[in-house]
Amino acid sequence: MYVFQYAADLSRYTSMAPHTSVGFVPTMGALHAGHLALIRRAVAAGDLATASIFVNPTQFNDPEDLRKYPRTPEADVSILAKAGCHAVLMPSVEEVYPAGGQSYEFSFGHLETVMEGAFRPGHFKGVAQVVARLLDMVRPQRLYMGQKDFQQTAIVAEMLRQLNSSTQLIVAETVRETDGLAMSSRNVRLSPEFRAAAPVIYQCLLDAKRLYPEMDAAAITARAMQKMESAGLRPEYFEIVDGRTLLPVGNPRQADFVVACTAAWAGDVRLIDNVVLRAAG
Ligand code: PAF
Repeated sequence: MYVFQYAADLSRYTSMAPHTSVGFVPTMGALHAGHLALIRRAVAAGDLATASIFVNPTQFNDPEDLRKYPRTPEADVSILAKAGCHAVLMPSVEEVYPAGGQSYEFSFGHLETVMEGAFRPGHFKGVAQVVARLLDMVRPQRLYMGQKDFQQTAIVAEMLRQLNSSTQLIVAETVRETDGLAMSSRNVRLSPEFRAAAPVIYQCLLDAKRLYPEMDAAAITARAMQKMESAGLRPEYFEIVDGRTLLPVGNPRQADFVVACTAAWAGDVRLIDNVVLRAAG
């Protein structure tokens, strides 16, 4: 596997390596099985599998969260190589955001203000900015992202639409620990006590899936918030939304694509997760 610091070197490599398509997995490092599943999917699709490791400062609304974000570059590189990744870009902040470089202006309407957007103002502007920059640098045919960040995938899909981009977004299922906790780079920061409590998040999402045919969204939400609090977590939201608009659906039986999304603090670690209650027909 090749490790590049500069986009120009990556682009020289992709122009010379034999391939018909470039697949790209953007990451902020601290890689786990969820990231590897994305790399393996790109490899299985026959792509020249590329990844990036860049902890993007512009998507952190909380400087403490940026400071504490786990950074394990050596381990990441060896994990990527084992998964069959062909090349990884590890750029500096100056490489991604050069002085006088192109700035992107997107408008996502309520897609960026609900749920994560309400609790992390400006977060999705930062995500869209960095993904647009990275796409510019890597120029992939396929972009692989995980469903755990459901709202992020909706934002990126809308961003690709606004850019009139030909890059295809592929959203892969969330990879979970055996007790159901969604894989996340932040999990390594959980204390043993909160690591034991955290699977309640997925249990609440599964409850929602079981209950939505009979119960309305408000009752399911109240029950989930209560259950997470009883387990010692501090839930920020539990919402049942239309999978396309991300707006709340009062009666989940009446929409054809319904997703339950949640965020909760486990000690000082903020976790998010979601489950599709009804898949788009
Ligand atoms: O999901 C992430 O890890 C980040 O938001 C991403 C897409 C790599 C952009 O920095």
